[in-house]
Amino acid sequence: MKITRRTPTPHPFLKWVGGKGQLLQTLHAHFDEAGATGRYHEPFIGGGAFFFSLYRKGLLGRKQAMLSDNNARLVEAYQCIQENVDGVIRHLKKHKTKHEHDYYYATRAEVPTTAIARTARLIYLNKTCFNGLYRENSKGGFNVPMGRYKNPRICDEENLYEVSTALQRHKIQHQHFAVVRETAAPGDFVYFDPPYWPVSDTASFTAYHQDGFGENGQRLLANVVEDLTAKGVYVLLSNSMTPLIQDLYKAYTIEDVQATRMVNSNAKKRGKISEALVNNFAQV
Ligand SMILES: C[S@@+](CC[C@H](N)C(=O)[O-])C[C@H]1O[C@@H](n2cnc3c(N)ncnc32)[C@H](O)[C@@H]1O
Repeated sequence: MKITRRTPTPHPFLKWVGGKGQLLQTLHAHFDEAGATGRYHEPFIGGGAFFFSLYRKGLLGRKQAMLSDNNARLVEAYQCIQENVDGVIRHLKKHKTKHEHDYYYATRAEVPTTAIARTARLIYLNKTCFNGLYRENSKGGFNVPMGRYKNPRICDEENLYEVSTALQRHKIQHQHFAVVRETAAPGDFVYFDPPYWPVSDTASFTAYHQDGFGENGQRLLANVVEDLTAKGVYVLLSNSMTPLIQDLYKAYTIEDVQATRMVNSNAKKRGKISEALVNNFAQV
């Protein structure tokens, strides 16, 4: 009997600001080009668009991925799906059955005490909230109103199982991006997808995290890239094509990539923008 196995297709389980979309092809090409033999690091994992896409294409091979982010709730969600996807699905099914206006606001008002319940709440709110974007306010609360979806995909059981499988061999940690300076070894590959430096003063797309990410953050990141380069670590980094970023990475290769970024809830502002894709491959 012929057994046909469907190729696993895990996708981000959350909608996240900065999901990479059409930039993925270019990122893959660079990942291939570097030919790194060590581990794969992604210190701003967010929704994990590039990690899941590398996994789907089988490009990680036997490499271990070190995934991290400084958003504690997000990292907790990855860890729960990795360790107890059944528990997460059980809770999500409850949310799915009960979902309606008052239930949304009651769920939003209360943060559960267990990690599994918090993770299911995060996914539930992410799938049902306005514009589908998780956003904490300055006090760490979640204040996005309910969205108007006919049939939100609250519990995508199949994808959650695939995500759980995809995460099995890998490490997911709650930490500041600068830790990679110590953990990455020569021959490793690091992809940085930090909060982008704003194109204009009014651009507010760094506001999705309560800590923000100012000029100091961008300068520290450039510093980390310098140290990693000296150590023989391959670095790929995306950011906005702005004077500050062009200046910080002038020692490396900067490619101009056109992308449609969802940077604002105003649909008119989702235009094509120029992104900077930086790599240090020539220096490693
Ligand atoms: C542009 S998003 C990453 C998008 C991601 N590549 C995706 O596909 O969804 C940036 C991420 O950086 C995280 N972040 C912000 N400041 C950080 C810091 N100091 N250290 C680590 N992560 C940070 C945010 O929590 C957010 O998830």
